[in-house]
Amino acid sequence: MRVLLGVTGGIAAYKVALVLRRLVEDGHSVRVAPTAASLNFVGRATWEALSGHPAPTETFEDVPSVAHVRLGQSADAVLVAPATADFLSQMASGAARDLLGNALLATEAPIVVAPAMHTEMWNDPATRANVATLRARGVHVIEPAVGRLTGPDSGPGRLPEPDALVAALYGVVRGEGLSLSDASLPWGDLAGRTVVVTAGGTREPIDAVRYLGNRSSGLQGFAIAEAARERGAEVTVVAANVTLPLGEGISRVDVSTAEELSQAVESLAPAADAVVMAAAVADFRPAAVAESKLKKDGSGGMTLELVETPDILAGLVASRPAGQVVVGFAAETGDDAGSVLQHGAAKARRKGADLLVVNEVGGGRGFGTVDNTVTILDSAGARVGEASGSKLAVAGAVLDRIVERLRTE
Ligand code: C5P
Repeated sequence: MRVLLGVTGGIAAYKVALVLRRLVEDGHSVRVAPTAASLNFVGRATWEALSGHPAPTETFEDVPSVAHVRLGQSADAVLVAPATADFLSQMASGAARDLLGNALLATEAPIVVAPAMHTEMWNDPATRANVATLRARGVHVIEPAVGRLTGPDSGPGRLPEPDALVAALYGVVRGEGLSLSDASLPWGDLAGRTVVVTAGGTREPIDAVRYLGNRSSGLQGFAIAEAARERGAEVTVVAANVTLPLGEGISRVDVSTAEELSQAVESLAPAADAVVMAAAVADFRPAAVAESKLKKDGSGGMTLELVETPDILAGLVASRPAGQVVVGFAAETGDDAGSVLQHGAAKARRKGADLLVVNEVGGGRGFGTVDNTVTILDSAGARVGEASGSKLAVAGAVLDRIVERLRTE
């Protein structure tokens, strides 16, 4: 079929190069009409090379062939992706400011529009009204996906993945229409899977105001949760003292102590396909908690008696249902007795988790820093992966290993 692909000025335009490639590979003839603003994100050469046709922007670029009318008239289907808030407004008002605006007015083919923008813009009453207007006119407006946006924020506003866009277009062309829940259709290699992630660091109270804690920020656990959600999983995060926000569509249980974390994990784990214990859980807690603030008594010091907390990870490994993948984290420092990896391998064998993600901490590494470097070991202590870079990149590597194990169950 002949497809008109409109590209407007949003960063998600880069994903649409893959949509074009897929359509061409499927044997369709695709004409791309990028708006001028979109060329800031993806250059004309990309569209022309992948489609094999010119990719004009302006109404006056190819006047003799009356491209502004022909492009719309000759299309069997139209996809606009990404559609910015401004473009939705232009479309809803019937404006024909550029070649794409003209072509949309001139077409009788079904039109599928995939908006992508920040959550606030998507929720703005003006955008909501424009979407309602377009839908009332029979335009198929895809709900944006929920997940990581351009900056550190998350929420509805992501352009769905290229394959989902192509599937939505084909569905509309087949006359099946577009269900509004299309963006939540299963996609990604964790679709249909339930993932529980613990994140942050526990705090064990000493008295009414003090606690024993650690420097874990929760960034790595949250990155795993966000990445798992983006890959289609149902995700619940058990967050121990984390003040960071989580993307929409991710459930969150806030806890503080190891005991609370243990109870939350115990109730969530049985239904999970994968449990990722990224939280730094205290190994010891004070034997007794003073009800009021402990006072100095002039004796020059005090001794705090600590007792071991139960190893939640070990409990999970012992009681896991068949097929569940259990992942532990080990923050290690090298010492005279062995390197970080030697300690990690010994811990992998001791703990028996399917995967142990080992990272070196101390000296400013690991905790709270934005980047991370990890080695992933299996339960025998053998290296099965490594990753370095942003915590999201590390999350991706950990999830890749989880997916491999879930596939072979
Ligand atoms: O032995 P270590 O504390 O280094 O092991 C770290 C791993 O074990 C992490 O995955 C952590 O979430 C988990 N852990 C636990 N319960 C504890 C201590 C650690 O589940 N009491």
